[in-house]
Amino acid sequence: MGNDRPRRNFGNSGGRNWDRGRDRGRGGRPPQRDRPYRQQRDRPRQFDRHPGLTMSPGKNVEPLGPNMFKVREGTRVRPATKNLIPGSRVYDERLIKHGDDELRVWDPFRSKFSAAILKGCASLPFKRDSRVLYLGAASGTTISHISDIVTRGVVYAVEFAPRSMRDLFRLAERRPNIVPILADARKPARYSDLVGPVDVVYQDVAQPDQADISVANVRAFMPEGTLVLMIKARSIDVSQQPSKIFAEQMGILKRSGLAIAETRHLMPFEKDHAAVIARVS
Ligand SMILES: C[S@@+](CC[C@H](N)C(=O)[O-])C[C@H]1O[C@@H](n2cnc3c(N)ncnc32)[C@H](O)[C@@H]1O
Repeated sequence: MGNDRPRRNFGNSGGRNWDRGRDRGRGGRPPQRDRPYRQQRDRPRQFDRHPGLTMSPGKNVEPLGPNMFKVREGTRVRPATKNLIPGSRVYDERLIKHGDDELRVWDPFRSKFSAAILKGCASLPFKRDSRVLYLGAASGTTISHISDIVTRGVVYAVEFAPRSMRDLFRLAERRPNIVPILADARKPARYSDLVGPVDVVYQDVAQPDQADISVANVRAFMPEGTLVLMIKARSIDVSQQPSKIFAEQMGILKRSGLAIAETRHLMPFEKDHAAVIARVS
């Protein structure tokens, strides 16, 4: 595994240990913020609970899921997806030849789902025929990898920033399984005539009411399936400990009838972010 291999993970702590030890020096020492994360003595100890993404010795490419692979890049392991449009890049991702296929390396510093996989997230809800409602599409970095996976499905991509929407339209011209929708994710009724029932709701809108937005969209479009919620604690309340915010957001999901399946803190790829996977059945 590589230099940035995540070594500690909060796992399924139900929100109790998300940031234990955070910002706490030992013996009066200041936090060692100038050191690389893995060398900081005050980093949360729970990170070592899950091994993260590993590969068999001697292998450079291994399957991970439908149209998904693990690739070795030097000393690092990365997720990758089979390029739907061989020869084309969406951001500055690396392309790797694998037999007749071309793989796009999924950058964990640019996409939170790649970070979650590297942190040991075992729930991979995207299948070849999945119908996905993606809220907070931006210019389509993560969506492009989901589009690689759901080759017989569809990704409804909701975004309210016109600038990002322009990039998304260009992406959808090349990738026919992406349906761009210029709309506010807080108002699912406004796009209900464009979106049918889905198997996955992916929420990455970084608004203060992240869990409520998820629930509203789950109720509107997903009678059964998986919610992927990327919580950005700093967008909800900068004055609160992230652990408290993560627990509150998960409380909203649970009270709305969702079952929490997995949680992953996204350090060191994203600070104060957590991935929550929840099921509706
Ligand atoms: C963190 S970025 C998403 C990054 C993207 N998910 C990715 O991984 O490639 C959040 C995006 O959500 C969009 N957004 C924020 N609030 C929104 C809302 N209420 N409705 C739709 N989009 C929203 C922002 O414009 C921004 O592009």
